[in-house]
Amino acid sequence: MKKIVVLTGAGVSAESGIRTFRDSDGMWEEYSIEEVATYDAWLKNPALVLDFYNKRRQQLAKVKPNAAHLALKQLEEKYDVTIITQNVDDLHERAGSSKILHLHGELTKVRSTVDQNLIYDIGYKDVGLGDTCESGHQLRPHIVWFGEAVPMIEHAAEIVAEADVFMVVGTSLLVYPAAGLIYYAPPASAKYLIDPAGMHVSRVANLEVIRKKAGEGVPELVDMLMNN
Ligand code: OAD
Repeated sequence: MKKIVVLTGAGVSAESGIRTFRDSDGMWEEYSIEEVATYDAWLKNPALVLDFYNKRRQQLAKVKPNAAHLALKQLEEKYDVTIITQNVDDLHERAGSSKILHLHGELTKVRSTVDQNLIYDIGYKDVGLGDTCESGHQLRPHIVWFGEAVPMIEHAAEIVAEADVFMVVGTSLLVYPAAGLIYYAPPASAKYLIDPAGMHVSRVANLEVIRKKAGEGVPELVDMLMNN
């Protein structure tokens, strides 16, 4: 089976109703990264940080996977598909994709502030100050904040290096190390970037840029790959 690796960003979930970060109505227009998405923010005002992620979780409970998530699941009928997502939502899971790697963590999980191996699935529930792990320490969102290491990045790079086809969907490619994954795809692999902004990526061979929304561009590309 040929291997398809898909790197997704906030744009793949935009048509489900989840705001992206850096578009004109993006999340980082309303909130500042320094106040809600860094370890210093957590130390300074954990209640505000918990509230931010509680709101994201409440919203996630109300939205559904869109045509792009569903088309990526369909690809598994013919290909060995791995999704590497920067998104913390669970829409790829709910669309049924089987191999998903979350580079930046997961909204539906929290972990101990002291032992990072104590991870709990909380679904769409709120977390507050005083909610603790089994050893009595405060729980924090299972999110990779700015300035924190991205533990899955090396594994992700190994997966990308084996791709026959590499797709990038709905990401500004501004946040490293995730944005650098495209450079690990084998030069001979077919590469597609689907994003209405269609940014220029230099030094990447065999890259086709498709300037469309994910809900249109992904099903079209999946149709093409299924009939290949
Ligand atoms: P960004 O908000 O930086 O970029 C979103 C991208 O989605 C842009 O390139 C848009 O053009 C594109 N887009 C918008 N609507 C779309 C649609 N309907 N279909 C396809 N594409 C669309 O989001 P990311 O690149 O995912 O990290 O951001 C990367 C990381 O920065 C996130 O994981 C998050 C953020 O801060 C953390 O919070 C740690």
